[in-house]
Amino acid sequence: MQRETVLITGASAGIGREIARVFAAQGARLVLVARRGDRLAELATELRDRHGAEHRIEVCDLVAPLAATSLVARLGREGWMPDVAVLNAGFGLHGAFLEQEPPRLVEMVALNVTALTELAARLSPHMVEQRRGGLLLVASLAAFQPMSYFAVYAATKAYVLSFGEALAGELDPHGVKVSVFCPGPVPTEFRDVAGSPARKASFLDTRSAVVAAVRAVEGFRAGRVVVRQPRLRGWLLGATVALLPRTWVRKLASSFG
Ligand SMILES: NC(=O)c1ccc[n+]([C@@H]2O[C@H](COP(=O)([O-])OP(=O)(O)OC[C@H]3O[C@@H](n4cnc5c(N)ncnc54)[C@H](OP(=O)(O)O)[C@@H]3O)[C@@H](O)[C@H]2O)c1
Repeated sequence: MQRETVLITGASAGIGREIARVFAAQGARLVLVARRGDRLAELATELRDRHGAEHRIEVCDLVAPLAATSLVARLGREGWMPDVAVLNAGFGLHGAFLEQEPPRLVEMVALNVTALTELAARLSPHMVEQRRGGLLLVASLAAFQPMSYFAVYAATKAYVLSFGEALAGELDPHGVKVSVFCPGPVPTEFRDVAGSPARKASFLDTRSAVVAAVRAVEGFRAGRVVVRQPRLRGWLLGATVALLPRTWVRKLASSFG
């Protein structure tokens, strides 16, 4: 039987790399996407040696013009259209909105929102045609409320959550699953890239990217549309925000700075 093909964006580090390890252990052949090709090549070799399948690496800056379009065209031509796409690549920028570089903000929206949407749009017709597979979109617990000093990032993740939940309803009748993974803080390169200051441990922390990845894939396999990590505390956060008046939510949002 043909192996399941799983595409993972942001597979060179953090949560994406661990999600790749989980799918490889389940016997999938992978399309590993990120800008750092050396890291992808190392991971592909590790996973081939451990689990036997040949994986494909795609060195790709998803923010570059036509990057997503040409990536999908190449995969289609060469017999690598994915059954499952994990749209995980993303970054945040911490700090005062007024002090942030506008081009970096635009780049964040281009990666976290535009590239993710385009890949979902270009990859899901193949899944629908086969009546199987699905999309695992990586959002964040930041999706559930506004966050001052992380304003654009939290807004991009609110988009991913809203988009994913809506899409789940459209694609489910076609046999295609959509899950939105919403983790709290996970120790990865994310904080360095975001320029986040040192902070105290939070009740929403996850011990490692491995724990986050296992939870994301388990939730996807179980057909859960929204997968929070940590599960109960993440749910409590969302439920509290949903019940609070917006004036209180805004007060909560400004406490994140
Ligand atoms: N860590 C957290 O606390 C946390 C919490 C909630 C949600 N998340 C979300 O989880 C996802 C993964 O984050 P992470 O924590 O694993 O961060 P990470 O360790 O910084 O990994 C980010 C990944 O995205 C890739 N990437 C960045 N820019 C790219 C671009 N222009 N084109 C292609 N790939 C690009 C990076 O690869 P290259 O640099 O090699 O391109 C890397 O593989 C993100 O969407 C993030 O928002 C993270």
